[in-house]
Amino acid sequence: MSSARIVVVGTGYVGLTTGACLASLGHRVACVDVDVAKVNRLAAGRVDILEPGLAELVSRGLANGRLSFVVGAREAVRGAEGVFLCVPTPMGAGGSADLRAVESVTAEIGDVLPAGCALITKSTVPVGTAKRIQAMVGRDDVPVVSNPEFLREGTAVRDFLNPDRIVVGSDSPAAAAWVGQLYGDLAAPVVVADAASAELVKYAANCFLALKLSYVNSIAELCERLGADIDLVTEGMGYDRRIGRTFLKPGPGWGGSCLPKDTSALAKVAESVDYDFRMLTSAIDENIAQRDRIVAKIAGACGGTLAGARIGVLGLAFKAGTNDLRDSPALAVSSVLGALGAEITAYDPAVSGGIAGMTVVDDPYQVAKDADVVVVLTEWAEFRTLDWVAVADAMEGDDVVDTRNLLDPRMILDAGLSWQGVGRPRAA
Ligand code: UGA
Repeated sequence: MSSARIVVVGTGYVGLTTGACLASLGHRVACVDVDVAKVNRLAAGRVDILEPGLAELVSRGLANGRLSFVVGAREAVRGAEGVFLCVPTPMGAGGSADLRAVESVTAEIGDVLPAGCALITKSTVPVGTAKRIQAMVGRDDVPVVSNPEFLREGTAVRDFLNPDRIVVGSDSPAAAAWVGQLYGDLAAPVVVADAASAELVKYAANCFLALKLSYVNSIAELCERLGADIDLVTEGMGYDRRIGRTFLKPGPGWGGSCLPKDTSALAKVAESVDYDFRMLTSAIDENIAQRDRIVAKIAGACGGTLAGARIGVLGLAFKAGTNDLRDSPALAVSSVLGALGAEITAYDPAVSGGIAGMTVVDDPYQVAKDADVVVVLTEWAEFRTLDWVAVADAMEGDDVVDTRNLLDPRMILDAGLSWQGVGRPRAA
């Protein structure tokens, strides 16, 4: 692998991780963003995203001169051999992916890209986008390559440097191979594909994960109705290598900045080619049903009515290890509880500041004060080691609803409280 001159457009968690990690692999990387204040903060080594190892990589890249942060994509791409598009592709009107950011960057830089420079999509984009970008650029000497990312928030640096696979797709096989070798010595299989297949890999993978979770949440519901224990059921399932042991934890529903938008976008894509992707739309519906079942379970713990109930919420982020609230099931459940008349006091170790409809506190024990019910909604490990006797003393009621099956039920019982999880027998 030789060192290449790379530009990364967009400094969200995907772009920043991509830029900092490519610099750590020996490339010279310029990261571009339109947000001047953010570029200045990053150039001074200040990283706002909670992502283990990222701030260190950024500092190292700045210190050794391989990483820089600039405003102005047109200037930045002039000497580039490869340009990664890492701009947001949020859920747009009707559930399709909104490609305005991708298109506007393409329009901005298309005519100034050096001959032979690869234009690489890392953002999750619908099948056909590479072709569309190629047509927009309108140049034969600029190959477009799809190189989807599979980073999870909270472990993005680790995932980038230890990938399960690298996928590169282009209608120019040489350009795809060039992008593949940028990852150098990372010990991972490289799947070289056409552009459409590479684009579909990303959606097919994320949607499969969502299907797996909706399935597990449904099995958890069956466990409750049949008197079985989801932990034992998934343990028994997980030893089958065809199924695998991961992504089998039930919860308040799946969320975050990727799974909800990607499931919705793939359902839309299927619709556009006259395929009714029922398995996928059922998984999406099931996710809403799961949230509603969780709300009903909490209402049950409050004696059947939420109006006037005081609920202490532990966890607001969409999963542990991140401060991201985008499409967070924890936030959605809390908001529904609030809308149904409950008084919500919430704590999350990574979230501070005001959220409409609830009081956010900076001490986990404050959520317990006078609470009728305490609910765990995000699986932060530190909730396990709270002083649950102190929680019990502060509470008015004695029910803990643990929507992540995070806590040891025995410990909760020993503190004089009752515990109910998801898909597991109640401990009271
Ligand atoms: C997801 C994928 O896992 C990444 O591979 C992908 O690159 C990324 O989307 C993306 O498209 O950028 P992420 O959104 O960071 O990553 O979150 P996950 O760790 O996948 O979790 C998604 C949701 O599933 C969360 O709400 C989480 O709490 C939930 N979950 C996950 C469960 O309820 N149970 C599990 O066993 C695992």
